[in-house]
Amino acid sequence: MTDPRGNQARRRAVVTGDLIPLWHVKYSAGSPAHRCMTVLKRPFRGSLKGWALKTAHAAVDVDRISRRAIPLSSADIGMSERAYVEAALDAGWISGTGPQVKELERRLAERISRAHVTATANGTLAIELALRALGIGRGDEVIVPALTFAAPASSVLAVGATPILADIAPDTWTLCPDDVAERITHRTRAILAVDILGHPCDYDALAQFGLPMIEDAAEAHGARYKGRPVGSFGVISAFSFHANKAITTGEGGCAATDSAELADRMRVIANHGMRPDRPYVHDVVGRNHRMTNLAAAVGLGQLDRWDELIAARNRISAEYDLLLASTGCAARPVAQWADYSCWLHTITVGNRSEILVHVRDRGVDARAIWPALSTQPLFNVGDGSFPVAEAVASQAMWLPTFSGMTTSDIQFVAETVRQAMTRAEEPQRWPASASCSAIIGMTCICRT
Ligand SMILES: Cc1ncc(COP(=O)(O)O)c(C=O)c1O
Repeated sequence: MTDPRGNQARRRAVVTGDLIPLWHVKYSAGSPAHRCMTVLKRPFRGSLKGWALKTAHAAVDVDRISRRAIPLSSADIGMSERAYVEAALDAGWISGTGPQVKELERRLAERISRAHVTATANGTLAIELALRALGIGRGDEVIVPALTFAAPASSVLAVGATPILADIAPDTWTLCPDDVAERITHRTRAILAVDILGHPCDYDALAQFGLPMIEDAAEAHGARYKGRPVGSFGVISAFSFHANKAITTGEGGCAATDSAELADRMRVIANHGMRPDRPYVHDVVGRNHRMTNLAAAVGLGQLDRWDELIAARNRISAEYDLLLASTGCAARPVAQWADYSCWLHTITVGNRSEILVHVRDRGVDARAIWPALSTQPLFNVGDGSFPVAEAVASQAMWLPTFSGMTTSDIQFVAETVRQAMTRAEEPQRWPASASCSAIIGMTCICRT
């Protein structure tokens, strides 16, 4: 029997209380890559980065239901990706600036309605590239949402500028235009608008400030704002193709723009500051932000399956909505003008720690979302208050969401949540649990 997703190994790991992969890549069974990954996974112990997460088994054993190892995320690599990678290998071009990179950039531009795309080694560097191309640096301020993965704020710090946090709106969880208005000063050089958790920002409302906008669409592949695809807003937009994203290149990203001048600047900075026609001559401080040809080859295969991969996550999200409708947990809000595209299905619950203990104890890799940036001194230099971001951050959690999930997996996850919600209404059934803080702690260590 073949087991291309390594389910048996993962189930065995759960039953024995061993280690469960944090995420994994799906390879065709019997392939060299699959054999290699099977060997890598076997020890399940040690510090193989991003692979293993020790399950914290609490003493919550009342009415224990069966266990199943369901990772939060799992990349879906098919035959198409393998064929492109083989072609790149056969051609012997595995570093950056190869034909697969150029083809990926061309096809991405078409897909997100942009004139120019620069592929990068990851999404964080795409944001940094956008900031550098706009000349943003020391003494400048950039508005960033108070709730997001840290990369946008870190990128602002990396170029020497200051991230100024603004609260999110309760009906979109994206930048609140009214709060942005409060944060603008004579130093504000740009707004970094993050399409958080698959939901587009209110771009018409943000455009009224007349500031350059960088759109961070890392988590929103396939989403639309009033019919237009995300990634087509802002003077420059950025995507991530990390393994946990709907479309992946393993690690990877891109910066997109309609400005030939900005595109040119980004290519030069991303390639050691060299112009293609003047190798080894450096007029600007460059970096190496290039995506490899092998990563681009994986991306071409994923682009062939763009609609299928994105639809799969949205189907899973819709199934969760149905299954969890009467449990008392709330789904992420979606504005009426938005075509939301699910990255990780997100719910809010009143007593998240207990819910997480219960579902994680059953092998479901659900997690608390990021803490608000306003609670982290590195990012919060002002004195504002961020009630919406902090409330969402304290209640929201992710459920496993990846294209290879079966209906049975989705039902299992929903059932563990439903069961946990029922217990939460009966507080006396929760044992005083030491593993609760451990689980929240783990969530902070292990980014998605
Ligand atoms: C909103 C957001 N921006 C940027 C990034 C950074 O992308 P990468 O991990 O490819 O560097 C992420 C990653 O998850 C993200 O969620």
